[in-house]
Amino acid sequence: MCGIFGVVGQEKNAAQKVLAGLKRLEYRGYDSWGIAVKKNNGLIRERHVGKIGGAVTKLPASTIGLGHTRWATHGGVTEGNAHPHFDCNQKLCLVHNGIVENFLELKAKLTGHKFLSQTDTEVALHLFESVGLMAGFKQVVGMNAFILLDSANDQLLAVKNGSPLIIGLGKNANYIASDVWALLDHTNQVIFLEDGQAVKITQAKVEVTEAKSGKIIKPKITTLNWQAEQSRLGKFHHYMEKEIYDQPKVLDNLSRLSPPAIKPSSKTFILGCGTASYAALFADYLFDLSGMDVEAVVGSEFQKYQQLLKPNQAMILFSQSGETIDVVEAVNLAKAKGLRIIGITNVLGSTLYRKSDQKILLGAGQEVAVASTKAFTAMLAVGLLLNKKPLQNVAASVRRLLDGPTRNQVKQLATKLKDREHIFVVGRGQDYPIALEAALKIKEVSYIHAEAYAAGEIKHGPIALIENGTPCLVFGNATNAAYEMKARGGLIIGIGYIPDKVFDNYFPVADLAEASAIPMIVIAQLLAYDLAVARGLNPDKPRNLAKSVTVK
Ligand code: AGP
Repeated sequence: MCGIFGVVGQEKNAAQKVLAGLKRLEYRGYDSWGIAVKKNNGLIRERHVGKIGGAVTKLPASTIGLGHTRWATHGGVTEGNAHPHFDCNQKLCLVHNGIVENFLELKAKLTGHKFLSQTDTEVALHLFESVGLMAGFKQVVGMNAFILLDSANDQLLAVKNGSPLIIGLGKNANYIASDVWALLDHTNQVIFLEDGQAVKITQAKVEVTEAKSGKIIKPKITTLNWQAEQSRLGKFHHYMEKEIYDQPKVLDNLSRLSPPAIKPSSKTFILGCGTASYAALFADYLFDLSGMDVEAVVGSEFQKYQQLLKPNQAMILFSQSGETIDVVEAVNLAKAKGLRIIGITNVLGSTLYRKSDQKILLGAGQEVAVASTKAFTAMLAVGLLLNKKPLQNVAASVRRLLDGPTRNQVKQLATKLKDREHIFVVGRGQDYPIALEAALKIKEVSYIHAEAYAAGEIKHGPIALIENGTPCLVFGNATNAAYEMKARGGLIIGIGYIPDKVFDNYFPVADLAEASAIPMIVIAQLLAYDLAVARGLNPDKPRNLAKSVTVK
């Protein structure tokens, strides 16, 4: 949530570099943005409401600057609430990711300051203005990352707790960002800052310290083997489309992995949020059927288990970003109780990655579109691998769907459904999480109300909503529910490997046993994408959403 980026270099193109960094980070929040640079011992900034799009900056030449792309938490979407914020004397400026939970208490004590916004960030800045960054940081409650530019120096100061901050070690310039993807245009040498650490960045030097004591720390430098090109749009219209088409390659790579093994434990919790929670639920079905004691929980509800946690248990977490706050908090709780942590994430060096005892990387490449697609199917694939289910033929079957007649058939269906208000989705067994994910994808990008049910539950109430022509997506072997909905006039769209006369539209996928879930969800991803496009929406940046949910 929110992207932050800073640079100190030799060349006087800081504003351009910050703008390019913010464009890379925009998927973290896109309601407003701003940049500030240092000029002649003063600060100059620009702030705007709305998406960055193809913006150019007219800020003056400078070697040092920082910027922010916002997903509003405190205060509406206005230019005045956009970052960077200035202190009373316009000598300090701050960008911030996270929430200052005690901002009202702090504000009450900050007498004599001029507050020009409704943000918690500005409160933090006035606090830093009064007592300094490190002393102020000790008073701040919450998961936060701050970058401060003082017009008196040619340096950036940053400090973090909870929210991610990564330092990029460049040639004649050093960088700092809330996301490693924003650094890849400049360097593959990075330092992942740990919680409670601070950093002073100049053009020539990066000095990491323990925030509390000021003790200098020798940081670990990580060399990434990722390419910025992985995230370019190429021939596709949107990142969501590109990422759907990336899937055969990702699945192919995963199918060559030797299946990771998990040490036995008395009980295993399996967690994720949103899309990742459905991947966790899918894996849970497979584990349960194999006789392992596994319980799927959504990240935000894990706290209720705190009295039940024991050191001989384990926790498996799925998270594309590895930064989702509800996931990180669940990990912190589980670690404190001695559980073994198995982290499955797409981002090397992310908080989940660093905190996990066993780390499994999805290898999906950067996912730019806010709605997750390739990371989800990679998670399903890892769930299958952990359960010793083969992935052979999965990549090929997805490739056939994308390159064959199915692609156009889905487009035609989207044209037919684009003005519908409701879509119902059902699945049974391990296809139920696939139905949940299909409904989420449709909601997220097309804003059509889509609701998923376990197939057997339809008759317990939701069937009251089925009218003549109501679209009903039926995954896999859920024909009883399909017949029940058909009898009430439902338009039955089957996605699976067993044809049935109940289907008004049928999208066949290869019979790959449990792995058929992957081609099935790809069809739903295409449908969600086509519905968004048919409704004139931008599927890459759905309203109100952000890619990485780092606030509670
Ligand atoms: C996916 O389409 C959503 N934007 C959302 O549900 C997402 O999956 C969720 O916020 C979890 O993110 P994570 O995988 O990065 O933890």
